[in-house]
Amino acid sequence: MKSYNIAVIGGDGTGPEVVREAIKVLDVASAKFQLKLNYTHYDIGGDRYLKTGEVLPDSVISELRKFPAILLGAIGHPEVKPGILEKGILLRTRFELEQYINLRPVKLYDERFCPLKDKKPEHIDFVVVRENNEGLYTGAGGFVFKGTPHEIAVQESINSRRGVERCLRYAFEYTRKRNKDKKLTLCGKTNVLTFAFDLWERAFHEVGQKDFPDIKRDYAHVDATTMWFVKNPEWFDVIVTDNMFGDIITDLGAMVQGGMGIAAGGNINPEGTSMFEPIGGSAPKYTGMNVINPLAAICAGQMMLDFLGETEAAKAIETAVIKVTREKVKSLAAGKMGYSTTEVGDLVAATL
Ligand code: IPM
Ligand code: MN
Repeated sequence: MKSYNIAVIGGDGTGPEVVREAIKVLDVASAKFQLKLNYTHYDIGGDRYLKTGEVLPDSVISELRKFPAILLGAIGHPEVKPGILEKGILLRTRFELEQYINLRPVKLYDERFCPLKDKKPEHIDFVVVRENNEGLYTGAGGFVFKGTPHEIAVQESINSRRGVERCLRYAFEYTRKRNKDKKLTLCGKTNVLTFAFDLWERAFHEVGQKDFPDIKRDYAHVDATTMWFVKNPEWFDVIVTDNMFGDIITDLGAMVQGGMGIAAGGNINPEGTSMFEPIGGSAPKYTGMNVINPLAAICAGQMMLDFLGETEAAKAIETAVIKVTREKVKSLAAGKMGYSTTEVGDLVAATL
């Protein structure tokens, strides 16, 4: 029997509630596919910070390195100033554990939940590979004359050849493995960001030509990309982009697939510890009410199994989620599903 050690960070707000449902489903999948998942829970998040002043102790970061995967609920607390937990927990983990890929599938499971007219599941099925360690997120830059009338703020976008290339290679390989249209679209802004995306574009074609001749290379500016997400989402197979653009376009992606209730992502270090999360946030106003949609967290669990190589178990969870989405829930939004958080978890578990 294969056994995996999983770190669990329920985190803030509705995070712990949705993670509980993800674990419920993972346990059924484990029994069915003869796996063993051993969970270690970490009490990290806004409440701990408010109580003890600790954001993410160094000892926890070094413990996390020993796990192949982390399941994360949500980070963000209404009583903590924005930035502290996001930078101190989420971004720090992404950077220190070198989770250099943020993988965000955009897949519509039922046309009832798509806000776009006449778009069906066959039109919305693409994946965004977001660079997760560089770009505008590194904190490079600073202030000059801060607080004075002539203050200057500089926020620099860092794009190393190594960082860009490893992201591109992952994206090309992912496109090959996915085997849908074998098309990789670079999303950038080569007409204005003529340094950063010059490097991206050269690396894209060099790597593609040399090592991935079977993959079609396509390019779209980021502004046009958002237009096509709405107009012609069926054009996309896999999209690769930098950290900031990836952050923005994947929120739009989440909406076209039915909203934050269903959108999941993985922060991936292909050789190390990866972290999987529903991308919707901590939803403080719904905390403890048993109304939040756990499907995104369940899909995060599915992505985790896929990452661990348990593709059959992952596929089975996805099939169950699709069935529950199509046949049971009335809406993917919190409080409107027609079922409670725990009931949706039960439905997926029973279907599985
Ligand atoms: C995301 C989030 C984070 C990001 C925030 C919370 C720091 O929006 O995972 O997309 O910007 O990456
Ligand atoms: Mn975001």
